[in-house]
Amino acid sequence: ENPRRRDYLSIGAVAFAGVGVGVVALPLINQMSPSADVLALSTTELDLSAIEPGQAIKASFRKQPLFVRNLTPQEIEAANKVPLSDLRDPQSLAERTKEGKANWLVTLGVCTHLGCVPLGAGEGENKGPFGGYFCPCHGSAYDTAGRIRQGPAPLNLAVPDYSFTSDTTILVG
Ligand code: FES
Repeated sequence: ENPRRRDYLSIGAVAFAGVGVGVVALPLINQMSPSADVLALSTTELDLSAIEPGQAIKASFRKQPLFVRNLTPQEIEAANKVPLSDLRDPQSLAERTKEGKANWLVTLGVCTHLGCVPLGAGEGENKGPFGGYFCPCHGSAYDTAGRIRQGPAPLNLAVPDYSFTSDTTILVG
């Protein structure tokens, strides 16, 4: 065995670790104060494969809560049978989802009244009287398509720009 070779290797490893810390620290500092143009360009990719029908996840997109929900056939049917004339902000489920993917409801988790985060995406949370989302701040209730049905909020939960990048992954933004 050659002891000089071993010394060289361990010095090399320490130097490499030092570089690694520097590389990791930079993006963290950048995230603390993103400029407006950086925010505008940022996208979020999400893997939906673990979300079972009837479940939702809370993610975040440009620092706002994002809900992704896998609707059950019953929830899709409930949304589709509401006449658009009953809606404050008339939109069909089809208009709020992607073609052939009506079960994937992707919305911001931001109440359109004063911006609270509605309940209903987390396990066991109150989905409200229309089975979608319920805002605990002043009682706005959204249906299974995330449309406003009751309470002070004027608009449906916003659907961000997104696209499917595979059968079970989306790119938001
Ligand atoms: Fe949601 Fe007021 S902020 S009902």
